[in-house]
Amino acid sequence: MTGVNLRSILGTVSQVTVRMQERSDRGSGIYKATAEMMQGRPILTCLLDALSPVCRLQVVKRLTDLLVHRHLVGKVVLVTGGTSGIGFETAADLAERGARVLIASNERHGDSVRDNIVARSGNTDVHFIYLDLASLASVRSVATDIIAKEKRLDILVNNAGVLLAKRGLTEDGLTLAMQINYFGPFLLTGLLLPIITKTPSSRIVNVSSKLYRLGRVDLERLNEPRTGCLSSFLAYCDSKLCVALMTVELARRLHGTGVTANFLHPGCSLTNIYRLDTFIKKVGFQILLIKYFLKTPREAAQTTTHLAVSAEVEKVSGCYFRNCKAMKLPEKVRNKDLAKQLWKVSNEFVNLSA
Ligand SMILES: NC(=O)c1ccc[n+]([C@@H]2O[C@H](COP(=O)([O-])OP(=O)(O)OC[C@H]3O[C@@H](n4cnc5c(N)ncnc54)[C@H](OP(=O)(O)O)[C@@H]3O)[C@@H](O)[C@H]2O)c1
Repeated sequence: MTGVNLRSILGTVSQVTVRMQERSDRGSGIYKATAEMMQGRPILTCLLDALSPVCRLQVVKRLTDLLVHRHLVGKVVLVTGGTSGIGFETAADLAERGARVLIASNERHGDSVRDNIVARSGNTDVHFIYLDLASLASVRSVATDIIAKEKRLDILVNNAGVLLAKRGLTEDGLTLAMQINYFGPFLLTGLLLPIITKTPSSRIVNVSSKLYRLGRVDLERLNEPRTGCLSSFLAYCDSKLCVALMTVELARRLHGTGVTANFLHPGCSLTNIYRLDTFIKKVGFQILLIKYFLKTPREAAQTTTHLAVSAEVEKVSGCYFRNCKAMKLPEKVRNKDLAKQLWKVSNEFVNLSA
């Protein structure tokens, strides 16, 4: 974390001091005078005293920056769907704070998105991982790679999602929207739990939607496609309700481990998730809605970032957030038995314990 940076700063400062001391021993006037001036005083204070007021201000600003804004140095973060919309903004923000950021999605141009985040954040420790949540094999392979390559995982952001998924089954025999939005993240989280729980104070942030209110969870028909003209939309609502219930059960299972799990509604933002016709999107929607009703993707990413980094929520788990505030746990999600049962049934679908 910040410690890494401070240690290196203090290390450099003490090396300079030792060198000055050596030169002063060899009799060089200026070094001798400086070493005398420093005697018995903290190195940093002496260094600051020796600077002009403007330089001093810059050094203090830089140190504050390291302490406050770049406090994720040394931490590892995984953002699914970090290549677009809200996920992209989340990943860029966490990169700006100095974390090692892994962005995972099925985007073919993932490496160029990674380059954008590097350019924006000035952090080169950003990496693209190909992940197709519609394939359990892909999820397993990504989890295995992360566990093999990373020493820790401080923040897992399950952000990737699709709204109007095509109907039909995946190669795993699961309905597409449910697999991308729920079964895939469920398996990924379950497989990553060993590395997450061994990382102190780690956090799991699940991006749901307030549309979970329109969802239903019928354990007998969990993988049964919705029918009718609103089937894709309702499948989305079901999957987001499952994400909420999964978070509540995760928080219960992780109680006492120091790991937190929360879910959120980011707010409405005109991202690729709506896949609207380009003309309507560019002209009509942007002028009429973005300005007055919708959030920009960056604004929509704020609740995710809040849950990922804020000290305020360090010990908060199993909660629902909107606009960076904890909301009363929705009625539909308060059913702890349902959450437990859903975990059990989902486990059977994806064979988590295999
Ligand atoms: N925007 C809103 O108004 C809104 C409202 C409520 C909730 N949300 C939630 O916010 C989250 C982010 O959505 P967004 O608005 O930022 O949408 P977005 O711009 O479409 O981003 C979705 C991300 O998920 C990735 N993804 C899609 N299918 C995937 C798959 N099979 N495997 C791996 N990654 C996949 C996408 O990758 P590709 O770029 O390759 O497709 C993209 O990076 C979603 O969970 C969504 O449900 C959004």
